Amino acid sequence: MTKKIAVLPGDGIGQEIVAEAVKVIKKLQADGLDVEMNEAPVGGTAYDISGSPLPDETLKLAKEADAVLLGAVGGYKWESLDISVRPEKGLLGLRKELGLFANLRPAILYPQLADASTLKPEIVSGLDIMIVRELTGGIYFGQPRGVKTLDNGEREGYNTLVYRESEVKRITEVAFDIARKRGKKVCSVDKANVLEVTEMWRDVVNEMHKDNSDIELSHMYVDNAAMQLVKEPKQFDVMVTTNMFGDILSDCAAMLTGSIGMLPSASLNEKGQGMYEPIHGSAPDIAGQNIANPLATILSVAMMLRYSLDEAAMADRIEKAVDKVLDDGLRTADIYSDGMKKVSTSEMGDAVVTAL
Ligand code: IPM
Ligand code: MG
Repeated sequence: MTKKIAVLPGDGIGQEIVAEAVKVIKKLQADGLDVEMNEAPVGGTAYDISGSPLPDETLKLAKEADAVLLGAVGGYKWESLDISVRPEKGLLGLRKELGLFANLRPAILYPQLADASTLKPEIVSGLDIMIVRELTGGIYFGQPRGVKTLDNGEREGYNTLVYRESEVKRITEVAFDIARKRGKKVCSVDKANVLEVTEMWRDVVNEMHKDNSDIELSHMYVDNAAMQLVKEPKQFDVMVTTNMFGDILSDCAAMLTGSIGMLPSASLNEKGQGMYEPIHGSAPDIAGQNIANPLATILSVAMMLRYSLDEAAMADRIEKAVDKVLDDGLRTADIYSDGMKKVSTSEMGDAVVTAL
């Protein structure tokens, strides 16, 4: 049966990079991949058209799809809007409405890019970390939230960091399952020395470990984890953590690999339905210039094929094609170094299609 992909380019460079990923999907369609693509607006682009960053039709399309391919959302243009209709709400709404609680963010260093990292090659060479970020709970969604004015006229802003045991259990289970297929190590990141909710997080992870004792489990406070990621990143295999800590640590891990422009992500729900997106943002400063790196989005298509469309062989092909263009010395500006061949967004996409 034909599988459905909802294509949501979003804002800024989202448009350009998704266009390249679509080229890759079309090439695979020509080779027999049985999928149908339908595009819809999300984020600021959707707000401009409809007054909502997540129009009903877009949400419906996403819900009915087997997988969602998303570019990025946000931009200067919409920064002064009320928070309830900002582009980011479109993305958060998709995550919540689709129940995409498990966000997988691999940080892999391509050997060809060892020089692009700001860290010494020996620190990062061979790096292969999987960050498992809880995506539909925690402080991003906790109630109460808001800004109120106190009796003395001063404003007070507040958000709530809340997790239920069941939410911790299901993300921990994902982390253990993934670790089992890799290095069999999980590091759970929390702030159990200060925050009760993450003290509970740690307890739940320990309880879960009793039935997963084949996995080597460790715990780390988030501040130390940030430091260790830069100091000795190869100590990590799978890291599992809360929504906000995962947001922060995954940007940090991304930079270890040379560029945030290289890293894909998958966000999965309990049914295996998924949303696939680069971990970087909409980069409004370079939008429309055809210089953004499309590889994170193209690699997100590989994750989509593997996790939601049951096409692992095609996923392998994409990853090999990316490897090939890097071997050939092709580099977008963000990963460029002396002696390499600088290419545009669309040239990089074309090169991957050719390599396929
Ligand atoms: C990410 C992004 C989003 C997040 C923003 C755009 C809402 O930073 O996917 O990491 O904070 O989750
Ligand atoms: Mg982020």
